[in-house]
Amino acid sequence: MGEEYSLEDRFQQYVEAENKVEPKDWMPEKYRQTVIRQMSQHAHSEVIGMQPEANWITRAPSLRSKLILLAKVQDEAGHGLYLYSATETLGITRDELINQLQTGKAKYSSIFNYPTVTWADMGAVGWLVDGAAIQNQVMLCRTSYGPYARAMVKICKEESFHQRQGYEIMMRLAAGTKEQKAMAQDALNRWWWPSLMMFGPSDDNSPNSAQSMKWRIKRKSNDTLRQEFVDKTVPQAEFIGLTIPDPDLKWNEERKSYDFGEMNWDEFYAVVKGNGPCNKQRIINHIKAHEEGAWVREAANAYAKKQQARKKQSAA
Ligand SMILES: [Fe+2]
Ligand SMILES: [Fe+2]
Repeated sequence: MGEEYSLEDRFQQYVEAENKVEPKDWMPEKYRQTVIRQMSQHAHSEVIGMQPEANWITRAPSLRSKLILLAKVQDEAGHGLYLYSATETLGITRDELINQLQTGKAKYSSIFNYPTVTWADMGAVGWLVDGAAIQNQVMLCRTSYGPYARAMVKICKEESFHQRQGYEIMMRLAAGTKEQKAMAQDALNRWWWPSLMMFGPSDDNSPNSAQSMKWRIKRKSNDTLRQEFVDKTVPQAEFIGLTIPDPDLKWNEERKSYDFGEMNWDEFYAVVKGNGPCNKQRIINHIKAHEEGAWVREAANAYAKKQQARKKQSAA
């Protein structure tokens, strides 16, 4: 008991001195579980997030926009891949992680349970959802778990491309015909509040946050990140002549920041609990794709085995 305590103390000092925790280092079990939960949630979000956007690949309005969207959706698959691999360094297998997602034991970002109903949604998702993701992920480049922090550096570079491509779609629509501008405004109306909810509950209702901050897993609170996102995004909407759907939104000269309205927390918790518009469909699609891809995994395993046997043979 005494020894355990002193190890935890040393661990605390270690992370406070801005050192990175590596897979083979000693860490409190609760830290390991917290990082597994957070990283796997993140990995699942990347992969499930491919669905609402893949929905528009075949209907993109030009070859150029189709290429860009394809590249973006592929990037998200890559993000999932790094993050699953990095999560495995904590001693959990890919199979277990996928199983937790498919059985509903693990969560992913609720934003991906909303449908993408028009082309403008590709703009709003890139601009707002990837924008909110960056806000969160820039801080994670300094998270205390080494493999997570390093994965985030590359992911953030790609996310900023995603945010730009979304904003470009919105910019074009907003400068287009009356109907196109209305379509962009409608997408902003539907995605604004769910994007703010991506930062999670407010600090008073976020019991795990304090411990995560102490361990330097999280570097900024949910409310701070949300405020930064609002302050950055409002001028972007104004620049292209769109209106943020919040009657309480107002510049606060004293705080040098925007005041904004209250989120609908009932909706937030309903979607988290599985009652969003697309929760069931997202998981059904994931299971189907996973089953249809079984032969690829088998082939890759057989190939890896053959390579290993060859290596052994040439070494002997
Ligand atoms: Fe991503
Ligand atoms: Fe992205």
